[in-house]
Amino acid sequence: MDILEKFYNMDVISAKQFKRSDVEDLIELSLKIEKNKEKFTNALHGKVMAALFFEPSTRTRLSFESAMLRLGGSVTGFSEAGTSSVKKGETLADTIRTVANYADVIVIRHSKEGAAKLAQQFSDIPIINAGNGSQEHPTQGLLDVLAIHDLKGTVDNLNVGLIGDLKYGRTVHSVAHLFSNFKSNLYFISPEQLKMQYRVKDSLTLKNTNFVETSNFREILPKLDVIYMTRIQKERFADLEEYAKVKDMFILTEDDLKIIKEDAIILHPLPRVNEIDPVIDSDPRAKYFEQTYYGMMMRKAILASVLLKDPLESLK
Ligand code: CP
Repeated sequence: MDILEKFYNMDVISAKQFKRSDVEDLIELSLKIEKNKEKFTNALHGKVMAALFFEPSTRTRLSFESAMLRLGGSVTGFSEAGTSSVKKGETLADTIRTVANYADVIVIRHSKEGAAKLAQQFSDIPIINAGNGSQEHPTQGLLDVLAIHDLKGTVDNLNVGLIGDLKYGRTVHSVAHLFSNFKSNLYFISPEQLKMQYRVKDSLTLKNTNFVETSNFREILPKLDVIYMTRIQKERFADLEEYAKVKDMFILTEDDLKIIKEDAIILHPLPRVNEIDPVIDSDPRAKYFEQTYYGMMMRKAILASVLLKDPLESLK
């Protein structure tokens, strides 16, 4: 089997399903498509992607849609469940069974952790998880690893700090799972109340992946090659007083630019609220807007490899 055929018709539910060689293959495919983008403008002609977004999104939905359109495919779906028949009480299972008749792939974001798996159960076309509650955001994790690989030249032997809301932030869970395939050091930096979830730590421990947990943000910052800031996920807090206690605990400020490495990169899955001072945006180490472009690159690779037996056919 061709190394890329292995992704054909695959569901993307969790970052845990990707081993090192899979991540490397997707990085290689993303870079190949980017380098030859004019040759791929019809690669997905005739294919339809349904984007079912039950939660708000800017980057994930629009980069999936742009990826699909730039590969010659078409898009349908909704960005607001209230405009669909969910509003009339239709179940997720029935929605998926219906949409599977109209599209070739379904990209779904939902507040419920079980939504992507449930969709998988009721669909005979591939399901791509675009964020399931606080659990995972596997395609964000993949685009983050692509960005790190491209900007740092490697994904090994780096000090990677995941900073902020490690309890409710789904992107950091997927990033941590993907990094368990590589030889970098992981630092989980969060308020005590928002530590990395046990299910993620248990999974890393099973793979003998070392990590350090701390709430001492400024002590670790000078060591880091990758500074991955995250937003405190206000919408996941049952008690807003608890949110108020932690919301301003980790803010990257102009003064921090003096203590971080000259060649560090600052990433953020975005949206940002106040955890990175906007004065940092013009520092060459701030890469979070470039990171959004890697999102479209990785999503092109994912869509092409899920929808085509030979995603590199356009190069032949
Ligand atoms: N990073 C991310 O998931 O952003 P959106 O919520 O805008 O899709």
